[in-house]
Amino acid sequence: MTQTLLLLPGDGIGPEVTAVARRVAGRLISQGLDLSITEARFGGVAIDADGVPLTDETLAAAKAADAVRMGAVGGPQWAGQPYDKRPEAGLLALRSGMNVYANLRPAICFAALADASTLKRIHVEGLDILFVRELTGGVYFGEPRGIETLANGEKRGVNTHVYTTSEIERVARTAFELARGRKGEVVSAEKSNVMEAGLLWRQVVEALRDAEYPDITLTHMLADNMAMQLVKNPKQFDVILTDNLFGDMLSDEAAMLTGSLGMLPSAAIGAAGMPGLYEPIHGSAPDIAGRGVANPCASILSLAMALRHSLGEPELAARVEAAVEAALNAGARTADLGGNLTTAQMGDAILAQLT
Ligand code: NAD
Ligand code: IPM
Ligand code: MN
Repeated sequence: MTQTLLLLPGDGIGPEVTAVARRVAGRLISQGLDLSITEARFGGVAIDADGVPLTDETLAAAKAADAVRMGAVGGPQWAGQPYDKRPEAGLLALRSGMNVYANLRPAICFAALADASTLKRIHVEGLDILFVRELTGGVYFGEPRGIETLANGEKRGVNTHVYTTSEIERVARTAFELARGRKGEVVSAEKSNVMEAGLLWRQVVEALRDAEYPDITLTHMLADNMAMQLVKNPKQFDVILTDNLFGDMLSDEAAMLTGSLGMLPSAAIGAAGMPGLYEPIHGSAPDIAGRGVANPCASILSLAMALRHSLGEPELAARVEAAVEAALNAGARTADLGGNLTTAQMGDAILAQLT
């Protein structure tokens, strides 16, 4: 049966890098993949056209698709909007609406890019970390939230960091299951020394390991120490389990270990059989948007993750990943990687390997 992929190109470089992923998907379709591709407005462009970043129709289309590929959202033109009218609020609503609570962010350093990182080759060569970031809870979603005016006229900004046992348990389960297919080592990050939600996080993760995953080596690490350890000795990590906010920050940090933020894809998955949401971890990059120079690798690798995790095509996923690697081996580089290829030319170089 024909499967469906919904593209949400979004803002800034989102449409630029999504167009390249679409060409890659088109190549696979021409080679026999039974996939139908549709597109919808999302983010700032949807605010401009529809008044909201995520319309009910687009959310319904996302839930009805087999997989969703988001580009990136946001930009200075919408930064002054009230919070719920911002492109980023649409992204949170999409993640929550699709119930994709586990965000897989693989930080893999391709051999050809071992000298592209700001860290020395010895620290990043062969790097293969899998972040499992909680995506639909924590301080991004906790209530109460908002900006209120106090009696004395002062304002107060409020966000609430909150986790329930079941929210922690389900994402920890994803991390343990994925660790079983790797080295079987999970390091869980929190701030249990200063936050109750972090203490509960540690207790629930530990209890689940003891009860159901005794074969997994579990280490707890305070998130600030992890930020340091990631640049001191990143190859000590196999699977990293984090909450929503720490995972956001630590995965951007880890992206630089792979050479560029433009390299890191992600897969957001939820209950079995439900559609996944696939996005590069980078943003809309207003500083380079419109110039056609963004690195499309994270976008293409996110398509590969969709093929693997939602579309039942692990072999095609591996072929796409191999094509990216082969293009890098052949010297193809966008500006962020020290080269001078445009986004489209980098796409050409990758497509040339996808025969
Ligand atoms: P950013 O990730 O957009 O950019 C950070 C830096 O990395 C910039 O210098 C940018 O040029 C560079 N960069 C990012 N992706 C690149 C690529 N593919 N190729 C080459 N260089 C790349 O982060 P920011 O500037 O802090 O945020 C800009 C906007 O994007 C904000 O509105 C933010 O909320 C939004 N954002 C969206 C997402 C998303 O949609 N998933 C993720 C992060 C940030
Ligand atoms: C990301 C982004 C998002 C996040 C924003 C844009 C909501 O930074 O996907 O990493 O913080 O999760
Ligand atoms: Mn981020």
